[in-house]
Amino acid sequence: MAEIPLRSPYKLGKFHLSHRIVLAPLTRNRSYGNIPQPHAILYYSQRATKGGLLIAEATGVSDTAQGYPETPGIWTKEQVEAWKPIVEAVHEKGGIFFCQLWHVGRVSNYGFQPNGQAPISSTDKGLTPETEFSPPRRLRIDEIPQIVNDFKLAARNAIEAGFDGVEIHGAHGYLIDQFLKDQINDRTDEYGGCLQNRSRFALEVVEAIINEIGSDRVGIRLSPFADFMDSADSNPQALGLYMAESLNKYRILYCHVVEPRVNGNVERVCVDSHSLLPMRKAFKGTFIAAGGYNRERGNIALADNYADLIAYGRLFLANPDLPKRFELDAPLNKYDRSTFYIPDPVVGYTDYPFL
Ligand SMILES: Cc1cc2nc3c(=O)[nH]c(=O)nc-3n(C[C@H](O)[C@H](O)[C@H](O)COP(=O)(O)O)c2cc1C
Repeated sequence: MAEIPLRSPYKLGKFHLSHRIVLAPLTRNRSYGNIPQPHAILYYSQRATKGGLLIAEATGVSDTAQGYPETPGIWTKEQVEAWKPIVEAVHEKGGIFFCQLWHVGRVSNYGFQPNGQAPISSTDKGLTPETEFSPPRRLRIDEIPQIVNDFKLAARNAIEAGFDGVEIHGAHGYLIDQFLKDQINDRTDEYGGCLQNRSRFALEVVEAIINEIGSDRVGIRLSPFADFMDSADSNPQALGLYMAESLNKYRILYCHVVEPRVNGNVERVCVDSHSLLPMRKAFKGTFIAAGGYNRERGNIALADNYADLIAYGRLFLANPDLPKRFELDAPLNKYDRSTFYIPDPVVGYTDYPFL
């Protein structure tokens, strides 16, 4: 069988990937009480391959980081212990496993916050409807180091749990994106205004984490083009490029960017291609593209040197053996959106059939 670009090997820093098909981070809301559960062992190991990169679902860095039911965390000893068998199972299959570190910021409400306090953000502008999202509280400058520290400790915990590295969640309108995007960030201090100021928090998180676990184990995810959770920017090209260039200084392992054709977890009508090219060219590390990729689009993007790796969300969710199916050009299972976020430990989770 002829080798396709998606099935060609790649050296990701010290990790030897046998193919370019990455599991995108996917929130599945099956971590009861913010504790990863044993059923995740099967779910992730189903999707693990020898030399395949998996990115775990968004994982809270602290008790203020939560905004959705039953999402996992990595700030307590119990959570770290609960991750261990899941990571072990992926490693047993030869997979490489990164943990996506997450703080939702204002995408939350009193019910998810310790002592029912207001969610924290770069701003005090809230999301609507207020029945779903409580008005946030703007972080004071002197509080920001504590949040950076939460990310750092979570990264240390991820390594303790056995993960090969971490992906900083800087996408989709969550806390880091709430600083990056000019339609949210209305600060007048050194964390708001110009690109340099808006990226300050993101880069402080990057710096703290690389100092803690080493730059060769750190990636970041960005979605400059998305306006998910009211996270628009007036100049996403400039923001993306600025971030790609700034990240070079920290020599992180990868930059993972979401295409404009996908907004969070839904498709957009516009199908403009090559929007990420300036970022790809500017960033010196590994470049991962995601969003609306299928087998053909992925192969083309790799053949064009538009990206080094392609992350698949919905297709990998519904096809545990996606790398095998791409290799054989086999038909794919269809995903069922109605079971994406339900708490069932099996249905829509580990019951998608293999070839
Ligand atoms: C069920 C579901 C959960 C998701 N959870 C996350 C998440 O935790 N972190 C994240 O960065 N993106 C998340 N996304 C976005 C995906 O990682 C991916 O970028 C998006 O689905 C587009 O890729 P696709 O067209 O291959 O599905 C999620 C998407 C879906 C469908």
